[in-house]
Amino acid sequence: MKQSLLLLLTLCLVGPALAADSVGKSAAELEKEKAMKEPFANDFGPETLPEKYLKTLSADAQKGYKALRVKCAQCHSAARPLNSQFVETGGKDKAAREAAAAKLQKSHPELFDKEHKNLWQIEGAIWQRYVKRMMNKPGCEVTKEDGKVIWKFLSEDSRERKLEKQKEWTAHREKLLSEFKKNHPGRYKELYAH
Ligand code: HEC
Repeated sequence: MKQSLLLLLTLCLVGPALAADSVGKSAAELEKEKAMKEPFANDFGPETLPEKYLKTLSADAQKGYKALRVKCAQCHSAARPLNSQFVETGGKDKAAREAAAAKLQKSHPELFDKEHKNLWQIEGAIWQRYVKRMMNKPGCEVTKEDGKVIWKFLSEDSRERKLEKQKEWTAHREKLLSEFKKNHPGRYKELYAH
């Protein structure tokens, strides 16, 4: 009797610990594992931007960059957003930004060509949508206040560093993609080859 009580006690104490070790990963840990296991070409670019360039951005965007470096590096590196093909057009609200994207498509249709989709993905609210999507992931530590300045940074930065410097951006992104194709052919096919 005493022995079986002891056994029961042992099971009660050890059982959950064993379970937690094997399957009890938190949702946040699982999300991080997923993010690391499935790389993007973006991940192999720089994780920081030059100070000199950052100083040309608005105060809010600079704040957003600082927040991104910490908060958006929780599950994958900061390189993933910093080297992304996403570009958000400017405007005072979402409707104005979407109108600006439509206007750009008329004046520069080549930027919207299907064959360039891995270099540029230009939309009026693409960063707004992606910051929200990341914030909805389990365990994400990006607060509402962080999210706002991070979005501001990504939106401004995508115009200044990608649209305003098309040649440099294209060369940078093409290099990342060709290296990724060589080193991760399966994942390249899945993400970029259609
Ligand atoms: C809780 C974990 C987590 C956090 C925090 C997180 N991400 Fe992610 N991120 C992921 C995962 C998982 C993926 C791949 C699946 C997906 O796209 O949803 C991803 C993918 C991405 C991609 C690639 C999307 C594509 O299809 O090209 C970008 C860009 C990105 N994240 C930006 C951000 C930004 C910006 C932040 C900070 C606001 C952030 N992430 C914070 C987990 C996270």
